[in-house]
Amino acid sequence: MIDLSVNFAGIQLRNPTILASGIMGVSVASLKYCEESGAGAVTCKSIGHAERMGHHNPTVYSWGQGLTNAVGLSNQGVDEGVGLLKEMIETLNVPVIASCFADTVDNIAKVAEKLIASNPVAIELNLSCPNTENDFGLMFALDTDATTRAVSQVKKIAGKTKVFVKLTPDASNIVDVGKAAEAAGADALTAANTLSGMIIDIHTKRPILTNKFGGLSGPAIKPVSVRAVYNLYKAVKIPIIGTGGINTGEDAIEFIMAGAAAVGIGSGIYYRGIDIFKKVTDEISEFMEKNNYRSIEEMKGMANI
Ligand SMILES: Cc1cc2nc3c(=O)[nH]c(=O)nc-3n(C[C@H](O)[C@H](O)[C@H](O)COP(=O)(O)O)c2cc1C
Repeated sequence: MIDLSVNFAGIQLRNPTILASGIMGVSVASLKYCEESGAGAVTCKSIGHAERMGHHNPTVYSWGQGLTNAVGLSNQGVDEGVGLLKEMIETLNVPVIASCFADTVDNIAKVAEKLIASNPVAIELNLSCPNTENDFGLMFALDTDATTRAVSQVKKIAGKTKVFVKLTPDASNIVDVGKAAEAAGADALTAANTLSGMIIDIHTKRPILTNKFGGLSGPAIKPVSVRAVYNLYKAVKIPIIGTGGINTGEDAIEFIMAGAAAVGIGSGIYYRGIDIFKKVTDEISEFMEKNNYRSIEEMKGMANI
C-alpha cells in the first residue's frame, strides 16, 4: 500500500505537493481550486505592510526554458490581507500557509504578527525582497545576519504557528543562510525562490519586462534548486520544501531524493494546468509502485550520499 502522506514540520499533509506562493494564492476561490485539484497544502501570495500596485505589464514572460516575472509583490496590504487569510483558513480543508514580506526587520515582524493572529498552521517568510535597512537594499536572504534578525523576531511572536523561511538561490552560500535561519528557530526552509535574470528582445533592443530584471522559474531553474536542497539537507535538521521547476512526478521525486520532505509547485500550473497537483501525485504513486517504495519518507534523501 503506497502512502503519499507526509508529516511536514508537525503538519499532516495528504501528499507532499504544496502550491508555491504568488501563483493562484490571491483569492479563496483560487486556493479552493488548488485543493480540489489535489494539492496537499497551499501557500498564499506574499502579503506586505502596505498596499502595493506592483509593476506595469509585462510582468510575466515565458521565454522557452522557463518563466521570468517581476510582478512587484502586488498585494492589498496586511490590514486587508488578514481578513482574506482568515477566510482562506476557514474555507479550505488542506493546510493554508501564510506568506509575508517587508522592507525592514521590524516591518516583517509587524506583518507576521497580524497574519499569525489568524492562526495559520505556518507562515513563510519571503526573505527574497530587498531589505532597506542595509545600505544597499539587498535581499534579507542574501545575508545571514538579516535572516537571523528577521527569523528571531518572528519566532518570538509566532506561538503555535510554524515559521518557514524562503531562501533565495541568488545567495552566494544558500547553506549558510539556511543554517542561520535554523539557528534562529526556523521550523522549515523553502528552497528556493526565483533566480534573478534578464531577457532582452533583440528586435526592440529593450528588456522584455518593464522592470528590466525578473525572477526565473520553471524548468530552467530546477537543477539550481535541486542542488540547493541537496546541500541544505546535509547541513540542517529542519525539513525542506523543494521548489523550482517541478512539472512532473519525476521532478518531485528528484527533489525528494535530494532531501526535500515536501515539494512546492508554482510555474508548473502554467505548463500543465491547475490539475498538476493530481498529475504529479499520480506520477509519484506510479513511480513508487514500479520501484517498490511505500512512503515518501523512505525516498527522502536517498540520493544524498
Ligand atoms: C508569477 C510569480 C509570482 C510569484 N510571487 C511570489 C510571491 O509573492 N512570494 C514568494 O515567496 N514567491 C513568489 N514566487 C516564487 C514562487 O513561489 C517559486 O518559489 C518560484 O517560482 C520557483 O518555483 P516554480 O519553478 O515551481 O515556479 C512567484 C513566482 C511567479 C512565477
